[in-house]
Amino acid sequence: PLIDRLYNASQIERKLAKKLGIERVIVVPGDSDRQSRVFDLMSEELNSALDLLLPLGKNIITVLGGKTTAQVAAHLSPKLSRYRDLLFVPGRGALGESVEFQSNTVAQVMASRTGGKHQGLYLPENVSAEALNLLIQDSDIANAISNIYNSDVAIHGVGLAEEMAKRRNLDAITKSRLREKGAVAECFGYFFDQQGRLVERIPRIGLQLEDLDKIPHVFAIASGASKAKAIRAYMHHAPKQTWLITDEGASNMVLKGK
Ligand code: G3H
Repeated sequence: PLIDRLYNASQIERKLAKKLGIERVIVVPGDSDRQSRVFDLMSEELNSALDLLLPLGKNIITVLGGKTTAQVAAHLSPKLSRYRDLLFVPGRGALGESVEFQSNTVAQVMASRTGGKHQGLYLPENVSAEALNLLIQDSDIANAISNIYNSDVAIHGVGLAEEMAKRRNLDAITKSRLREKGAVAECFGYFFDQQGRLVERIPRIGLQLEDLDKIPHVFAIASGASKAKAIRAYMHHAPKQTWLITDEGASNMVLKGK
């Protein structure tokens, strides 16, 4: 059963966790670049891990957007809400991306799958400091932001730099700078090169990379051989308590150092 696997990490999973300097790695069979059922398996693993780690009672879960988090929302189960009060909060107020990948949508889907609650955070991505100061005085917005900072769990993806630059509509100059500097990964608005060096940061509202340290349980979900480099790059910055949920496609490449 899945729950046993959480206690008994395989040798490969242990090796990967050590290599990446994080608490736990869960590897599901297959390669999501070619097999979409991998997302179902990762979703089941996330469900079991949450069930194992979350204390009973109230839990705030901050959810970031992306194709991966959107797909792993599918198999979260209402059992998670037995003896627990789950509140799903979006990690960003993004209004710029496709609706189905926005953190607001993913948080909403996770809440409906688990029978938990959802809190919306609707903010434009890039606003002036003055406008932001006004917006965050709004009590709904202030409350959502304070929930993000007090969350018990964060669930996020790891993006491919080029794809994320496109999706976030970055201008041509920034895109070519990212290419020049060899950016391979994007996470929380940071772009990293293959060695994990920071090459660009786009300001954003919501959960920041620095805030992850204070969150007891952090799940990074990223898979497929094509994401191996991005995973390695980001993991230089991941907080120690991170659990990576991934697939064989990515993990084989990470172990080979590719
Ligand atoms: O910043 C990370 C991205 O949102 C991950 O997106 O799962 O669609 O590759 P993805």
